[in-house]
Parts: sequence; structure tokens; C-alpha cells
Amino acid sequence: MTTNDSGSAPKPPAKDPWDLPDVSDLTIGVLGGTGPQGRGLAYRFARAGQSVIIGSRAADRAQAAADELGHGVRGADNAACARDSDVVIVAVPWDGHAKTLESLRDEL
Ligand SMILES: NC(=O)c1ccc[n+]([C@@H]2O[C@H](COP(=O)([O-])OP(=O)(O)OC[C@H]3O[C@@H](n4cnc5c(N)ncnc54)[C@H](OP(=O)(O)O)[C@@H]3O)[C@@H](O)[C@H]2O)c1
Repeated sequence: MTTNDSGSAPKPPAKDPWDLPDVSDLTIGVLGGTGPQGRGLAYRFARAGQSVIIGSRAADRAQAAADELGHGVRGADNAACARDSDVVIVAVPWDGHAKTLESLRDEL
């Protein structure tokens, strides 16, 4: 490791907390987005201007939740949600994580 004159490691340059990557074009998918946690996240991301897809094991349930939330939120089955999203949030109960993610291996 390189050290400065005082023998200690040099400090990294200060970071600007606002110097963040532009994510405005990314689509956020919420697997299991029909539940309270997923709906809450989907609503807030959509309100912030993000493109959001709610996923469900049943496309019609996802569509109903999306229609209820508005703000451009779309609904799809979990596979289409995973396939068409850039960032995916897993909002299904813990017991369902492994089976859900294994079934979506290709889409993810
Ligand atoms: N609710 C909260 O306030 C809260 C707070 C912190 C953390 N969390 C965590 O966030 C996650 C979601 O919470 P939640 O309260 O929204 O859960 P939830 O209502 O029980 O489930 C969310 C959705 O997951 C799907 N789902 C249910 N069982 C499933 C299974 N075995 N396999 C695949 N999908 C299944 C269902 O959607 P479909 O039937 O439409 O597929 C359901 O609407 C959980 O891990 C929870 O611990 C929740």
C-alpha cells in the first residue's frame, strides 16, 4: 500500500453524495408485488418517476394491483416481470424465495 509523508495511507478523494449513476431509464420489477410490501415499494418508485412492473404468480392479480396503484405501474406474471426489468426486487415471503428464483433462472 502507498503511504503519504506522514506514513499513513492517503485519504481517498471526497465523494459527492449526489454523484450517482443515472437510473431514470431503468425498469424496476417487483416479484410478489401484489403484497403490501411490494405494492408499497412499487407505488413509491412509480411516484418518483421510475418505470415499474409488478409481478405475480398470476398475471391478472398483478394487473389488478397495478391498476389500483396507477402512476403507470404495469402488471405481469413473475416471469415477464423478471424478463422485462433491469432491477428486480424479491417481495415474496422468505419461504417462497428459493422456488421463485429457481423458476426464474433464465429470465433473471
Ligand atoms: N409487509 C411488511 O410490512 C414487510 C415489512 C418488511 C419486510 N417484509 C418482507 O417483504 C416480503 C413481502 O412481504 P408481504 O407482507 O408483502 O408478503 P405477502 O403479502 O405474504 O406476499 C407477497 C406476495 O408474494 C406472493 N407469494 C405468497 N406466497 C408465495 C410463495 N410461497 N411463493 C411465491 N410467491 C408467493 C403473493 O403474490 P401472488 O399470489 O400474486 O403471486 C403475495 O401477494 C416478505 O419477505 C416480508 O418478510 C414485509
